Amino acid sequence: MKVAVLISGRGSNLQALIDACESDDFPAEIVLVLSNKDNVQGLERAEAADIPTMTLSPKDYDDRASFDCAMSDLVTQSGAEFICLAGYMRLLSDDFVRTWRDKLINIHPSLLPSFKGLHVHEQALDAGVRFTGCTVHFVRPAMDEGPILAQAVVPVLPDDNADSLAERILEQEHKLYPLALKLIAQNRVRVAAERVIIDDHCAPEGALSNPQGFPTPTK
Ligand code: GAR
Repeated sequence: MKVAVLISGRGSNLQALIDACESDDFPAEIVLVLSNKDNVQGLERAEAADIPTMTLSPKDYDDRASFDCAMSDLVTQSGAEFICLAGYMRLLSDDFVRTWRDKLINIHPSLLPSFKGLHVHEQALDAGVRFTGCTVHFVRPAMDEGPILAQAVVPVLPDDNADSLAERILEQEHKLYPLALKLIAQNRVRVAAERVIIDDHCAPEGALSNPQGFPTPTK
């Protein structure tokens, strides 16, 4: 399956996908990395892996609709049939989401539907939850909403701050996102009535709740 990845920055989730795709038995290939920001680390990661990159600046477009339309055309021209958002921090237009419906996934650093938007780890700490984590979901027009494909759970430790929590969640993101993409590329995932159904979901890699186990608390 040919995949485009949209980024806005560091690209550590992109790196996890690049690493997964490099393995011979991984059923997906990244054919384009597209950024809405210049000179970000994610673009360097893609270039180092010989993956074509493009940057589109929103400043060069009249509005969100025309920007997203250009982005959609570039993705189509690349041959990609599926899109992963990996730290892409810009709202998508309804048209873009409609065009790529059920062919567009996002990773978010909380157990959705809790804690959408920005400052997610602060939100979790402020709420006093004992567990948080990350979610891979199909994208719908509203921010951080859509059918949930995979989640990993991360405990909140007593002396966590936003940075320490973000770091432990990110470790799980890097395992969860390749797993989710693999299931899709294996054609084992479908969306019905806004729920995700995974075929053979008893197989080991189908055990999506915290698939890699809990991180061991070190404190
Ligand atoms: C990741 O934690 C990702 O889950 C989050 O941005 C970070 C990007 O890091 N995405 C969102 O909050 C989307 N709502 P990365 O660029 O190193 O992958």
